[in-house]
This record gives sequence, structure tokens and C-alpha cells, in this order.
Amino acid sequence: MSRADVAAVVLAAGQGTRFRSDLAKVLHRCAGRSLLGHILEALKPLGLGQVVVVVGHQGDDVTAEAEACGLANLVTALQAEQHGTGHAAQMALPALDDGIRRVMVLPGDTPLLLPETLEALLAAAEDGPDAAMLTIEPDDPTGYGRVIREAGSVARIVEHRDATDEERAVREVNAGMYVFERTVLTEALGELDADNAQGEIYLTDVVEAFVARGATVAAHVAAADEVAGVNDRRQLADSAAVLRRRVLDRLMREGVTVLDPATTYVDVDVAVGADTTLFPNCILEAATTIGERATVGPNCHLVATEVGDDAEVTNTVAKHAVVGPEATVGPFTYLRPGTVLARGSKAGGFVEVKNSTIGEGSKVPHLSYVGDATIGAGVNFSAGAITVNYDGTDKHPTTIEDGAFIGCDTMLVAPVTVGAGAFVAAGSTITDDVPADALAVARQRQSNKDGWAAARRERLSGDAQ
Ligand code: UD1
Ligand code: CA
Repeated sequence: MSRADVAAVVLAAGQGTRFRSDLAKVLHRCAGRSLLGHILEALKPLGLGQVVVVVGHQGDDVTAEAEACGLANLVTALQAEQHGTGHAAQMALPALDDGIRRVMVLPGDTPLLLPETLEALLAAAEDGPDAAMLTIEPDDPTGYGRVIREAGSVARIVEHRDATDEERAVREVNAGMYVFERTVLTEALGELDADNAQGEIYLTDVVEAFVARGATVAAHVAAADEVAGVNDRRQLADSAAVLRRRVLDRLMREGVTVLDPATTYVDVDVAVGADTTLFPNCILEAATTIGERATVGPNCHLVATEVGDDAEVTNTVAKHAVVGPEATVGPFTYLRPGTVLARGSKAGGFVEVKNSTIGEGSKVPHLSYVGDATIGAGVNFSAGAITVNYDGTDKHPTTIEDGAFIGCDTMLVAPVTVGAGAFVAAGSTITDDVPADALAVARQRQSNKDGWAAARRERLSGDAQ
């Protein structure tokens, strides 16, 4: 079946009153992607002729989000005032290309949607019926439109708020996803009114209009965890849990060990290589990528961070950082944007790194701050040493060349360079460049006063008597 004559219309103009949010509902994120993004992603493999996203509430932001998805043939249609789902569909009609024969209408708030679910909907609309819809039988049908059947066939849909007690007892509900013959849809949408509890134009009334014309509306029963709607924050959390579990199931199929799926939060865009182990309490966000045979966790929060093969990261927060292969990080380490740890390097306990490169095999093992620095290969940056990169106004760079040794508790006052193979004595405050292979000592000389402490003790005990 050709898909070039099928358009999807995604309804994304609503505010989402039940969210009680300043942000339009479809922009809320679920497992690392907006609600709208999830729908558009599910549409990608279908190869439809056109996708029309109906925008309204925070329309510019929703348009930007829709366009960021990278779907070909996507246009937006404006529903300036939101008078209901039927009204939203009316606004989409003028945007449809001439060649479109069938229109798939989808809500913008069903992030669990899978391409397979939409395939099933399209299949239900094939060979005959003028319309098809997806239905579900959720444990709790509250809030959904009830599917009223007569002699087994779909007759109409009654919204929860308009339903009688008897109708509310119906468990089969409307998933809000349909395929309609374009010409009949156009006619039916033209006849809708807002004579209902919410004073809105309901898309669901189109079903009755189809039936009134003697058309058949096929209903395909889908699994509730494929089409559940997200109308409030509780449902957002429920859907996020399902999405997370799907991601973890996929990773485990691909050879990743997840020690505790219940406490492992992996966004949909994260990639993890085979034979990597994720320990409990890890949050991997945005486009984080983990290589093969790495270990991550316990207790890691990685955002848009790249971790190489065989690396070890534990008890760490990292944002927009790169951890090279075989590098070790943690425990209790903070890698800020622009951090690049080369192969086999180390950022150990209570170390913070920002906008710096740490060269191959170099070690920053304990209690250091490294900011705006370029550290070569084979450098030892000992405990308590820090880059003094900020003078209160500007940030300045530090360069440490290959093989240099930076003693404990060194202050490197930037801008400053320590040459290759140089040695900086512990406790130094370095304000001038250190030549290659030199020793730099920049601290006061020690003086010992023999017997001073014993004399003090004697003096104090004399005072006490
Ligand atoms: C809708 C269906 C209900 C179904 C449920 C499934 C109607 C009248 N009801 O109810 O039968 O069981 O979905 O999840 O269609 N929107 C607009 N413009 C508007 C109003 C809504 O674009 O004027 C968009 C919303 O942004 C949302 C989608 O349409 O993405 C659905 O709207 P929502 O208010 O969530 O409908 P439900 O009450 O869930
Ligand atoms: Ca909804």
C-alpha cells in the first residue's frame, strides 16, 4: 500500500490544563524527549506523504520542537484559539496537499506510541472501511472517551464528562488515533458543533457523522501501554517508567548488564556498548554514549557525556564531557563542560575539571580543581594542586607539558606554562612559567626553632599554678 497519499495530523495546540504548568503540555519531557517528539519519532518509519502539526498554545516553541525532529514533509497549521480536538483538525485541513486521500489524526500527548501500533491502525483502514480507530481497555478508563458499539460495530464516542453512568461502565475507550477518508472527514468536520459539557468541538463526534453516512468505522484494540494519554503529571511519570523500561530492555538485549533496572534511568537517545555494566543509581541523559566493556556507577549522573571503551566511572557527575577509553573517574568527581580525559587518564576523588584536556595516561588523583587547562601526556597532578584560572574578572589558561610533575598543594596562577618534564615542588604558588626539565620551588623556606615547643608547654603549665 502506498503511503504517499496518507497524511498525519498531530494535534499539539492545547495548553494541557491538567498539568498546571507554564509550559505547553506537548513540550514536557518524558525519558529525554518531548511528548511531541515521541509522536513524531514514531511517525518517521511510516513514510507518510505529509505530517501536519497543529500548534497554538506556545505555538512558536512547539513549532521549533516539531521542526527539530527532522521529519521530512512536516508543516504546521495554526489553531490560534483552542476550541477542541475537532476544531484543531478543522484548522489542519487547508494545509493538506492535494494528493492526500486519507488522514491519520493523532494526539500530541501519547509518548508510548510505537510505529507498529500505527501500522496496525493503517492496516485496519485498508480494504474497505472509510475510517478506522484505535481503542484500548485500560484498567482505569477515567478521562477517556467511551466507545459505544451497536450490534458490535462502533456507533459513537462519548466523552467521560458527557457520559451517563451506564456509558462510563464501558471499558473500551478511544485512544484518540484515527484514519479517515479525507473527503468524508472534510464534510463531517464541517457539521460539528460544541453542544457538550466542555463547550468544545469534539473530533470524536466525527465518528458518529461517518456512521450516519452509512460508513464503516473499524476499531483495532491496542495495548494500553502503547497509546496511554498523558494528561497530568502522574500519567507523565507512569509513561516515563514504561519508556525507561523499554530502553533498558533494549540495552540488555544488546548485551549491557543492568544490575538494577528499577534505579537506572536511561534516556531514549543514550547508546551503551556491549559488555558494559551499569551499576545501581545511574542517570544517563541526553545524547550520552558509553563504549564497550565500561563500568558506570553506582551513583552516576551523566549528561551528554561520552565514555570510551573499558573506562570506569563511579560516583560521578559529568556534563558535556568526554571520558576516553580506559580512563578512570571517581569516586566523587565532577566533570564540567569541555572536559576531555584522554586514553588511560584518571580524575580521582574530589576532583573537579572544567574546559580542560587531560592527556594520555595523566593523573589527577585527589582533591584538585583543573579549569581552562591543557595537560599533556604522562603528567602527575598531585593531591590538592589546583589551577588558579580566575582573577576575579577574566579566566586564564594553564598549560602543562608532557611528563611534568606538579607537587601536592601547588597553586598554578594562570596564565602560566609548566614545560615538559619539569618538576614543581609541593606547596608552591607558581606565577611564572617553568622551563622544561627545571625544578620550580615557590614557597617560603622552612626554619626550625629547637626546643620552642617544649619551652611553650613549660610556660603554660607555670601560668596554670
Ligand atoms: C481525547 C479524546 C478522547 C480520548 C483521548 C485519548 C476528544 C474530544 N477526546 O481526550 O475521546 O479518549 O483523547 O487520549 O477528542 N488539542 C488541540 N487543540 C484543542 C484541544 C486539544 O490541539 O483545541 C490537542 C492537545 O494538545 C492534545 C490532543 O489534542 O495533544 C488531545 O487533547 P486532550 O485535551 O488531551 O484530549 P482528551 O481529553 O485526552
Ligand atoms: Ca489527552
